[in-house]
Amino acid sequence: MSSQASVFNRLMALLDYPMFIVTTAAGGERAGCLVGFASQVSIHPPRFLTGLSVKNRTFRVASAAEVLVVHLVPEAAEGLATLFGGETGDEVDKFAQCRWRPGPDGVPVLTDLQNWFAGRIVDRHDFGDHQGFVIEPIEGAAGTSESGLTFRRAQGIEPGHEP
Ligand SMILES: Cc1cc2nc3c(=O)[nH]c(=O)nc-3n(C[C@H](O)[C@H](O)[C@H](O)COP(=O)(O)O)c2cc1C
Repeated sequence: MSSQASVFNRLMALLDYPMFIVTTAAGGERAGCLVGFASQVSIHPPRFLTGLSVKNRTFRVASAAEVLVVHLVPEAAEGLATLFGGETGDEVDKFAQCRWRPGPDGVPVLTDLQNWFAGRIVDRHDFGDHQGFVIEPIEGAAGTSESGLTFRRAQGIEPGHEP
């Protein structure tokens, strides 16, 4: 690793940022995973960017999907974060282990999480080992002001899929 990459990695490790659970559906398949690479990237029009690892099942299903649902994760929902970040849909049915309902375009909305929005995928970018999905909000709910789970606390979860 070059010294610049090592400096970059050390700086990134100093950051803290919110965690999300991103779900999607296409061709009769459902998927979802814990995501830290995510941010609003435009106000007018409203746009949100989420980075999905190309190794993850969520990426593969999202590749054929039109909609992603982005859930904000309160600290109290660490169990759901562990399910979606620590297990891969290649091996387990995460949706058999949580409460959900079909939302826009059939994409699962986790009913234990009160803050979420659905976004129509308007653009995709190859970034490297993650692909960026740019979404435009089409529906959602803001039900709580609880503080959110952040990377510092979630980094103890062993990713269910190799990075
Ligand atoms: C703290 C943390 C942050 C993560 N951030 C991302 C991310 O930004 N994008 C992503 O695709 N996966 C991320 N992951 C990994 C996936 O959540 C994990 O590999 C999951 O098991 C993939 O499930 P899937 O194969 O069913 O999609 C993160 C995991 C953890 C523990």
